Order: sequence, then structure tokens, then C-alpha cells
Amino acid sequence: MGVRRFPEGFVWGTATSSYQIEGGRDERGDCIWDTFCRLPGKVAEGHTGDVANDHYHRYREDIALMADLGMRAYRFSICWPRVLPSGSGRPSAVGLDFYDRLVDALLAAKVQPWATLFHWDYPYELFCRGGWLNRDSADWFAEYAGVIADRLGDRVRHWMPENEPQCYIGAGHSSGEHAPGLRMGTAEIVRMIHHSLLAHGKAVQTLRARAAAKPAIGIAPVGIVSIPASDSRSDIAAARRNMFSVNDSITWNNSWYIDPMILGRYPEDGLKNYGAHLAGVMRPGDMKAIAQPLDFFGCNIYSGQTVRATRAGCEPIENEIGPALTTMSWKITPKCLYWGPRFFYERYKLPVVVTENGMANCDWVHADGKVHDPQRIDFLRRNLRELGRAIKDGIPVLGYMQWSIMDNFEWSFGYKQRFGLVYVDFATGKRIPKDSALWYKQVIASNGGNL
Ligand code: FCB
Repeated sequence: MGVRRFPEGFVWGTATSSYQIEGGRDERGDCIWDTFCRLPGKVAEGHTGDVANDHYHRYREDIALMADLGMRAYRFSICWPRVLPSGSGRPSAVGLDFYDRLVDALLAAKVQPWATLFHWDYPYELFCRGGWLNRDSADWFAEYAGVIADRLGDRVRHWMPENEPQCYIGAGHSSGEHAPGLRMGTAEIVRMIHHSLLAHGKAVQTLRARAAAKPAIGIAPVGIVSIPASDSRSDIAAARRNMFSVNDSITWNNSWYIDPMILGRYPEDGLKNYGAHLAGVMRPGDMKAIAQPLDFFGCNIYSGQTVRATRAGCEPIENEIGPALTTMSWKITPKCLYWGPRFFYERYKLPVVVTENGMANCDWVHADGKVHDPQRIDFLRRNLRELGRAIKDGIPVLGYMQWSIMDNFEWSFGYKQRFGLVYVDFATGKRIPKDSALWYKQVIASNGGNL
């Protein structure tokens, strides 16, 4: 099994994002989710993030909860149009003040702030100017990063420019399930990814140039994990190859997004299929601007795909009858937290932080007034044991951010999927720590000793 205890100073935390919890709709500019949620049939029950968890007004209560649970860190995101209502130009004093107070309150509670600059609530005004299709999008993002660095860079040390580019490109601009709900062709997708990579690189440079306290900067892509079917060398090699191949999906893969940021080049197999679309998009100096030195490799991992070696390469194992599933129908595969960090570390050589991991569960308030969620405890325990095993095998893992501190707006599923350690009654806003919250408190207090 895994290690008994995690390394000294291991960063135990939880994660959220602005649109999913803040509310405070009247105090910010429009984002693409505001308009998307109002399109018929796009979000379950027509739910929106207008009020959400009302964290914008209740953040002190939420931070008190984190402190009570012994959280060492909190990964949150900043709502770009709250700070720059039109996306660029004049900042909003009210918006900046909010994040100022949030960061101060976290520090006072001894919870390290880990800030994501962009977790999908793209400014509507910039979308109307072409969004990620427009090459200027990289400079808009850098401008925004500068405003934040100037204001929070003296106190926030940990930064992630973008959350899951695969998802906002893939679900937002290719399948259309997320805002802005577009279905673009491959050429446009390649162009947008390039601009988003450029935005990342420019934001990293801006943070380093303008943050008063030396920043630690990482990324937070979707970690798409292949799990070898056995410990045989051929299955392990097949899983590794599969995990870093671009395959037939330009939107859902690791290496097309991550290699440029860390290795300074697009992967060969992807270039064969998609490289032609970079003509006229990629300019001299771009790859250098994109590949900025990073301090940690953050990745969001929820599940993995088991694969085995075959003569032709590898094949997914799909034939399990009645697999363990969360209420999102995501497969429960604890080994993703062993193989994900291991394969990512082998390829990119950066210390790993799990920036999201968790599960949606069928949670309700039981007759005794409590919320019992043994499934989530078992899920987290098994995932964390695997993470501990990776550490034992020499993979440097610095931290783990459980998704999420509390139930929140789960994108196109609205409030129908509950990922929280803390239950939220959305009619009243009342928070009730679930059993898993109290269990996670013990994990933190014992530094993994109770796993
Ligand atoms: C991730 C997102 C996060 C949340 C979880 C469940 O893809 O980054 O906002 O919705 O999934």
C-alpha cells in the first residue's frame, strides 16, 4: 500500500472556481457563461451562476470553514470580468477590493492562497472581439495578469494562469457543451490553442516581472491518464505512449497542450496531422514566449483509462461489466493518482501538484441532520493511497487540492451534481460539513497517517 505519512510540508487543500461559487452577479462585467446559461437546453434546469454559493458575500464564513478543517491551502480562481469588466481597459476598484479582502482573510486564517487567473468565465466583451480566435487574446490576458500581479502579487505566491485548456477549448469551442457553445473546425481549434498557449506564456512572464513576492507558477491542465493493465514492461510502455500521443483528438490530449509550455515544441505525431493549420498562425518567437520556466506541474485528475499492449500498439480495456461509477458516470480508478503523477513527472521533470481530484456523489441531509458520504471517503482514501505510493516510488508530489470544498455550480449540470466536502443547501445557502469533510480534516491533521 501507500506511504504511512506524506512528506513534511505537504500542501493539503481544496479547490473551487469563481463562476461556480461566487454569485455577486451585479458587481461584475458579463462573462460567456452568463449568456450561455440563458440558452435553452444548455444547462440543467436553466440554472445559472448568478447567486451560486453567494461566496462573494459569504467568503468569511467559507474561509472559517476551511480553517476549521485545517486546510493548508485553497485554490480559487479570479473572475476576469470582475476585475476588468470589459476584459481589458479600466479595472474595477470594487472587484479588485474583493480579491484583496479574500486573500487577506485567507492569510489571516493561515490558509495559503493558490490563484488561478482563468477558470472559464471569459469576458463577454472580449468574446465579441473574437475571443481566443483573435491573436490579441494573448495580450488581453497578459494585461489582466499584470493588473492582478500588481494588486495581489505581494501576498499570493502560487499561481496557475489557466485551468484546463483542453476543456474550455474542447467542450466550449468544439463540442459546444460549455460556454460559449461553439462547434469550430480543426483549423480554428488549432489557432485557438496556439493563442491560449501564447496567453499562458505571456501571463507567466508578466507575473514574474510584476509580482512583488517571488511567484511559484504552475499549470492546471486536464491530466488525461492511461493506466497500464498490468505491471509488465510492455503494458507500462504502452500506457505511457498512449498517454502522450495526440491520437485522433486535437482537443482531448495531453501533449499538444503541455509539450509547448514545457518542452518548447508541439509533439511530432500531432504535427503530422495538424501542423499545417499552424501556418500563418505561429510566428517567429512564439515557441520561446510559450515555453517559460515553471515551478510545478499542476494537473486535474479524476479518472483514468486502463490500456494494455497489443501488437499494433495498445488498446483500451472497456469490457468491465457494472464498473464503479460516480454520479457523473466517471469511472472510479484510484490508480490514476499513481500513474498520472508518475508519467507526467517522467516526461516533464517538474514536481507535481494534484490541482483537482474528487467525485460527485448522491448526497442529501440524512434524518439525523448530517450528510453521510462514505463513498466519497472511500474514493478519496483509495486515491490518496495511490498518490502516496507514487511518492514512495520517488515522484516529488508537493500538494493535493481536493475538488471541492463545497457543492457548487457544476457547469452544464447546474446544481445537480455535488462534488463538495461541505453540503450546500442552495435554497438557503446553509453549509453543512459532510462526513468526508471531517475525515479529510483527520487526513490533514495526521499528514496522511490515517489513510
Ligand atoms: C473540472 C473543472 C472544475 C469542476 C470539476 C468537476 O474539469 O476544472 O471546474 O467542474 O471538473
